[in-house]
Amino acid sequence: MKRNTIIRITLLIVTMAVPAFAAGPDGAALYKAKCATCHAADGSGQTTMGKNLKLRDLRSTEVQKQTDKELFTWTADGKGKMPAYKGKLTDAEINALVAYMRELAKKK
Ligand code: HEC
Repeated sequence: MKRNTIIRITLLIVTMAVPAFAAGPDGAALYKAKCATCHAADGSGQTTMGKNLKLRDLRSTEVQKQTDKELFTWTADGKGKMPAYKGKLTDAEINALVAYMRELAKKK
């Protein structure tokens, strides 16, 4: 086999393997699609909707001091105007969202 062919095949295998590593729900994408309308892309809650609903900043200590389980329950069961996502999102997707809310707090 020519050296070029070997390189090309290696590249092909690598590019095919990358999406497999990235498998699992994408918390960032889910958040943008489902949560940002109210909670804002940065989690601040500074959207028209978020201000009307008097949302707490997801990055604030009050929110972040809660356990992963509590944030999971908020998202799964909802409360008041917060929609329940149980049945609409899988547990794995909700876990990815909880992880993303932790990320948002780190970025602040
Ligand atoms: C229609 C607007 C709306 C959307 C969309 C929405 N939320 Fe909420 N969310 C709320 C409201 C309103 C509250 C506050 C409820 C309360 O305090 O009674 C809230 C509260 C929360 C809390 C608790 C924060 C706290 O104050 O302790 C979390 C966590 C949360 N939302 C996560 C999410 C996630 C994750 C998504 C997307 C899957 C999402 N929300 C989508 C309106 C929304």
